[in-house]
Amino acid sequence: MCEPHFFQVQYEINPWMKLGSIDKKNAGKQWVSLYETYLKLEIAVDLIKPQAGLPDMVFSADQGLVKEKTVICSNFLYQERRKEVPYYENWYQQNDFEVKKMPETCFFEGAGESLWWEDKLFVGKGQRNSKEASFRLKEVLGVEVISLELINPFFYHLDTCLFPLNKETVFYYPKAFSPISVKSLRKKVPDLVPFEEKEAFNFAANSLLTDHHAVIQTGNKDFRRRLDSYGYKTVEVDVSEFSKAGGGIHCLTGVIAESSL
Ligand code: ARG
Repeated sequence: MCEPHFFQVQYEINPWMKLGSIDKKNAGKQWVSLYETYLKLEIAVDLIKPQAGLPDMVFSADQGLVKEKTVICSNFLYQERRKEVPYYENWYQQNDFEVKKMPETCFFEGAGESLWWEDKLFVGKGQRNSKEASFRLKEVLGVEVISLELINPFFYHLDTCLFPLNKETVFYYPKAFSPISVKSLRKKVPDLVPFEEKEAFNFAANSLLTDHHAVIQTGNKDFRRRLDSYGYKTVEVDVSEFSKAGGGIHCLTGVIAESSL
């Protein structure tokens, strides 16, 4: 995780963002409550030093995708976020990860735009990721890739509209995906569960799953009830200040080892 020391909306690269809209004090408190929630759940958290001038660096999921001890570093679409990557790359290197890169012409936004589903990988395209990112990931990681097209600007990253729960069940927000991608989800996923519109817009998909717990944004009653029915314990944390930049719990968390969850 990365402390929100320099977090603010200083540019607008998605429809959630409105310049200067963050209550910094509240953002700080909310971030600490997420951090402390992880500690209570005995999730080990490493921190990366925040950098002045990089307000979105706080979203640690986006700078790369990890598989075991390999990280594929991101290649952000927007110039505003590109300078975050060398800091994360450095961190990964120092922590003994093998760092791999995408070709410069291939945009890729890490674990914001690619989600593990057991040994398969869902990969977004159409907004931030280039189409080509799916092929590259398949080639480099040697895994099955399910490529999904995002069509709604409010759901510009895959982790804002898709939440894989286990090998049968995946939650999704249907209106975020192209009709072809909805079809391929239906074909691949035995138990595909839609989010309610209101909860999709309240970052329900942007949750973090551990073996027995789901850490979710406050206020998603229906999602919470469903998680209960699947046997997960739910912990609610309010990170609404971060929604104003288009991010939530999953975005604030770069998962580097499943074993620590
Ligand atoms: N303001 C950031 C952006 O638009 C938010 C990123 C949130 N990350 C995520 N994984 N959804 O890039």
